[in-house]
Parts: sequence; C-alpha cells; structure tokens
Amino acid sequence: MNVLIIGSGAREHAMAWASAQSERVDAVFVAPGNGGTALMGGKVRNVPLKATDLEALLAFVSDNGIELTVVGPEQPLELGIVDLFRRACKKIVGPTQSAARLESSKVFAKEFMSRHRIPSAGYHVFQDSSSAFDYIASLPSDSYPQVIKASGLCAGKGVIIASCRQEATECISAMFEDRIFGDAANEVVIEDFLQGEEASVFALTDGKEYRLFLTAQDHKRIGDGDTGKNTGGMGAYAPAPLVTPEVMQKVEELVIRPTLAGMAAEGYPYTGFLYVGLMIDHGEPSVVEYNARLGDPETQVVLPLLKSDFVAALQASVDGTLDQVAFEMHRKSAATVVIASGGYPDHYETSKMITIADDVASMDECMVFHAGTSYEGGKLLTAGGRVFSVTALGESLRESIASAYRAVEKISFEGSYNRTDIGAKAL
Ligand code: AMP
Ligand code: GLY
Repeated sequence: MNVLIIGSGAREHAMAWASAQSERVDAVFVAPGNGGTALMGGKVRNVPLKATDLEALLAFVSDNGIELTVVGPEQPLELGIVDLFRRACKKIVGPTQSAARLESSKVFAKEFMSRHRIPSAGYHVFQDSSSAFDYIASLPSDSYPQVIKASGLCAGKGVIIASCRQEATECISAMFEDRIFGDAANEVVIEDFLQGEEASVFALTDGKEYRLFLTAQDHKRIGDGDTGKNTGGMGAYAPAPLVTPEVMQKVEELVIRPTLAGMAAEGYPYTGFLYVGLMIDHGEPSVVEYNARLGDPETQVVLPLLKSDFVAALQASVDGTLDQVAFEMHRKSAATVVIASGGYPDHYETSKMITIADDVASMDECMVFHAGTSYEGGKLLTAGGRVFSVTALGESLRESIASAYRAVEKISFEGSYNRTDIGAKAL
C-alpha cells in the first residue's frame, strides 16, 4: 500500500521512518517533507505540497492510489482535513475539525473537562480586556502565578505564566489590545498555576478503543536547567519514570476514558492520536493541555520504541479494529536531542551548510531525524529553527542519552545550538 504523511518536521521524518519499516507499505510520500525525508530513498519520497493545501493533498491521494494518510501537525486538522478526506471516502488518521477543538480551542477543552469532571486547573474565560482586567484586579496577590492562555492555535507560544498582577495586566493588554496573537486571542483563558512535573501520554484511538504509546517527557525551554524562553521542544526521553503504573492507571481512569466517552457522547467521537499533556503532583495527574496529534520531539523517542507495525496499527484505528492489532513496545529507553539554529526561538539564520560525519549512519540504534533542513542541488542546508532531532536507544536512559550526544557531536553547521542536559533530570 501507499501511505501519505503530512508535515515537514522531525516528527514526520520519524513517522516516515516507522512507516517505511512496515512490510505492508510499498511507498511513503511526505508532503512537503524535509531534507531528511528527501535523502531517505527506498520507499520514501517528498511531494512538494503544503500541509495546509487540503484540496491539493486530496487530489494527490486520489491520483496516486494512497490508501492511508497520516496528519502530523495541528493546522490541517483545525482546517478540517479529516472531514474533507472522509467525505471523499479516503482513509485518514486524525480527529475531525470538531474533535480537534480539544487542541484548537482552549476554551472548548477547559469547558469540556469541566463538563466531564476531568482533573485540570481552575479557570475563567474572557472575551474582552475590561472583564479580564477586573478579574485580575480582584485576585489577591498571593494567587500568583496565574497562567494566561490565548484560546486558539499559537504554535506553542500562546501561554504566558504571569508571576504578579503587573505582568498579568501587561499580558492581557498584549493579547486583547495589541493583538500579539491575532484572532487566536479573541478569547483568553486565565487559569490557576499547577504545581508538579510534566509528562506526556499518547494514545491512538478509533473513537472507542485506544492503545497507549510509551510516555515521554519534553524539554520546552531553550536553556540548560529549564531556563529561558519556551520553544517547540529541545529534547525528550521515553519512557517517563514519573508516570508509574499507578499514575498511568489514574490517567486512563480519570482522563483518557472520560475524554473518549465524553467526546462520543457529545456527538464528535475522537479519532486519531490524542496527546495529553499532564502535570503530576504527588502521583495525582491533572491535564495541562490536549493536543490532537503526536508531540514533537516526543514522537522521535516514542516511535523508535514501538516494536510492532506502526502502519498496521494506524490502519486498524481507521477501520475500527484497534482491539485486534498488536501494539508492542521495546523494553528499552530512548532519548532525543534537538539541534537548533543559533538564536532560536527568536531570530535565526538559515541556509547554513550542514556536515554529518559518515559514521553516524553505522551507529547502532541511532537515528538522525531532520526538521528544518532542505536538500537542494546535492547540498544539505539549514531551513528552520529546530534543525535536527537526534535519537538513540539504549538499555537504560543513561545509555540512550550518552549515545544521542555522541551522535550530536558528529553533526555541524555554523551557529548550531543544543541543550546539554536532556534527560538529566530523570537520572
Ligand atoms: P500549553 O500550551 O497549554 O501546553 O502550555 C504550555 C506550557 O505552559 C505547558 O507545557 C506548561 O509548562 C505551562 N503551563 C500551561 N498551563 C499551566 C498551568 N495551569 N500550570 C502550570 N504550568 C502550565
Ligand atoms: N512537544 C510539545 C508539542 O508537540 O506540542
């Protein structure tokens, strides 16, 4: 069969890598892909179509006998790609536009959790600055930090943690008056700050049944020791020791099952990947956010640890036969280290020449997933903020981290930057 993967990050490179290993797959197309998927060869090739050009993607699927489409990023989901493909009787992995509101509307997600008593931070919703200012003025000074969130999609940048009334006021004014997030901040959520440690749980679901991937921990801040600005994610590891079997049982009982049952009961059954961002405090999980897709960089550790056939599971999720398919994990650990362009997440330069030492390819259980790279005229160049996600597996987390960093040293381009403490917290 032929598979189409939509997106251009390291997450999509990892999905293409996992799909190409499936014996049932003849060809993997990636739209638009990146330098890494361009260089994979074998079954994998890029298609120069944007992830948001839904009509062109549908036409490509019809013209090229694609039997299964997998959506990487959130934007096509918000635009309704799953609805469009289903109307055309094309199989696609992802939630419908209504179901994807769990990610695309934080107001929807908070109200949904409150309707279904899913543990999450207390919150208030605002549609204008004056009521938000009034609310902030009414809060005692010991109620900080408060978390202020644009409701709509902001590429992971729409959340601000205000440590005092002054900061909260500035943030509300930036969102409602200066419109720094545009229409994404037409509605704003102000919620209580949750204490604890974060972990991510990923499920694949057909709307009723679900299967769990291994848990992972992301590193969102740019600097070592979790300092500096938030980024898309600078590294990850899996499994997350924080999510013990007892915590996982609570997550399934209190979050995953009520989420799937609630979405179905409200008339928009949730299908595809469900990413639950959790805060875990003394063994008690609360939902920080839902995402309607797999995480990046978490996918780059979660998929290499999936032992069974990825595409078989995806097909089963679309066919409603998830309970009949193998879903096994390797009993190993994985770590991934993101190499970024200097300056990221602020201004950075691109089109830097990249060199990768030949011996990386022969390193055991090490995968160099590309993100912002392009391959043109025989040259591999940087083309984005996050450039690589270098993954290694190991018998222990310590081993996988050491091995990922050995591979990172073999990749160079002008101005490259990576954190040096990925996974350190878990050791
Ligand atoms: P979100 O986009 O909702 O995932 O928020 C981005 C990041 O902000 C999360 O990964 C957390 O690190 C932090 N965050 C969001 N909401 C809260 C909260 N209620 N309490 C503490 N931290 C939060
Ligand atoms: N790693 C965070 C995300 O994918 O949203």
